[in-house]
Formats: sequence, C-alpha cells, structure tokens
Amino acid sequence: MRIAVVGSNMVDLTAYITRMPAPGETLEAPDFALGCGGKGANQAVAAALCGADVMMVSRVGADIFADNTIRNFKAYGVDTTHVKKVEGMSSGVAPIFVDQHGQNSILIIKGANNALTPAEVDAAEADIRSCGLIILQLEIPLETVYHTIELGRRSGIPVLLNPAPATKELAIDRVCACDFFVPNETELAILTEMPTATQEDVEHAAAFLLGKGLKNVIVTLGERGVLWMTKAEKHYVPACHVDATDTSGAGDAFIGCFSSSYVQDGDTLAAIRKASAFAALSVTRKGTQMSYPDRATFAAFLAQQGGQ
Ligand code: RIB
Repeated sequence: MRIAVVGSNMVDLTAYITRMPAPGETLEAPDFALGCGGKGANQAVAAALCGADVMMVSRVGADIFADNTIRNFKAYGVDTTHVKKVEGMSSGVAPIFVDQHGQNSILIIKGANNALTPAEVDAAEADIRSCGLIILQLEIPLETVYHTIELGRRSGIPVLLNPAPATKELAIDRVCACDFFVPNETELAILTEMPTATQEDVEHAAAFLLGKGLKNVIVTLGERGVLWMTKAEKHYVPACHVDATDTSGAGDAFIGCFSSSYVQDGDTLAAIRKASAFAALSVTRKGTQMSYPDRATFAAFLAQQGGQ
C-alpha cells in the first residue's frame, strides 16, 4: 500500500557543539553537517528506506536548496509529482545544535512550507486517494493539517498525525478523526498541559487524549521506550539500548518505519517494535536522514537484536 506524506521539508544546518554560546560570545564548534531534513521529508525517506512506496506533498522555495531537495527525494524513490517550487519564498531551513551527549535543539524557519495550503492538497487529492495511509506533522499550516485529516476521513484512508513541533494552537477537537496520534513526551506535555515526567503521568496524559476521541495514542519516550494506548489496551515497548551520537530525526525515523510496516499488515504492535529498532539505530549516527540505515544494515541490526 502506498503512503502519502503531506508535510514539510527543510535544509538541516547541524552544528555539533560543546556548549551554546552566551549572548555576545563567539564560540568555535568542532563540527558541522549540511543535510536534507524537515519532519515530513524525514518521515517519507525513512518509510521509503523501509520498503514503502511513498508520495510527498510539499513545497520548496525558489532558491539554491530547492533542486537538491527534490533530487534527494528522488534518490530515495519518493514520488515528487506534488513537490512544487514557490516563487518569492525561501526553502525551509533548520539550524540544529547537537551537544556532546547527542541531545539536539532545533530552530525552524518554515519558508515555503507555509505555502502548502488546503488548495494544494486538493490538487493532489486524486493521488492521495490511492494511498493506504496519510502522514502529517505540524510544520505546515494548521488549516492544511485539519483539511487533510478531513480528506482522510471522507476517503476512508487512515491518518497518522505527528503533532510536532507541538503548539497549543492545535485544536485537539479538529484532529480526533486521526487513527494514530504520535507525540513524544515533551509534545504530549505541551498539548495536554499535563506532566509527563513519570510513566503514570504519561499514561494519564495519553488517557486524557483518548477521552477527547483519539483512537490510538503512541508516545515515544526515548530511552524509556514507547507507550501505545487505546481505550481498551495499553502496551509498553522497551527501547533498544544504544550509544547515542545524535538524536535529531529519531522521532521521524520511528514514524517512517512504523508507517511502512503498518501499511504492510496492519499489525500496530509489530510496527512499533520494528520502528523502535530503526530509530535506535539512527541515533548511533550523525544527522537526520543521513543517519537512517539502509535495508541491509537494518536487517543486520534486527538480527543482532534477536529478530523482530
Ligand atoms: O525532527 C527533526 C527535524 O526537525 C529536522 O530534520 C529539522 O529539519 C526539523 O524539521
């Protein structure tokens, strides 16, 4: 089954730092990497690497980054029919700071991602209707997110929403038709205004969202694993233990791999297990998309982990 990612792309400018500079200070950082990123693009690439047939609905600017972003999608086999350039706008850009523990801080300048309007989604509707899953994030206008969820509902296509970056402006009532709602614990705390420090806290916050009408809440908890809750079920999937070099893009790796696996057989728990392993392997390497393993590397890692 095909997957449609309706979402963002960015150019990632990653600085590997020892600490953040103080105001007015110039500080040397040991390393830098330029790569293709953006939550939507990362998820599309991760899904394609895991074997899915993926189409992308996205907008790039009219600048030096645009052709490279489109070329990059094509290199991974992602269909770019609905990736279009927007005159007079820059492409999305993300300065990323990764510390010595692999933790990341990200700024985003959305640029042309802001031009992905509901009308642009309508223009891609015939192709989106051929898909078995739609993936959304929050780096495009919220109205476009609501509109696409409604398209999914009308067409009987399951929708996965990754509410990242989290914003209190997201109207939970307007995203309840989603089949999968996949925040990390920080996003869950922002969206519910509830604590998520302990396992119990996370479950309460997830239950709050289920009470609002969401069907499946999947919370990625980093080293604490993944919680999947429905009204009837609760599952914890432990994390694979690895040495983290760079955690940026790990959530996107999880969503791409989860989606690829889910569209194949509809087995949510198996998809979560596989996606946890894929995300874990990605944090052992630098970058966002650059850190995602190819099929052979991932298969070897799964075999080492005892198979999934
Ligand atoms: O989730 C990681 C991504 O967030 C980065 O690739 C960056 O572009 C931002 O969108």
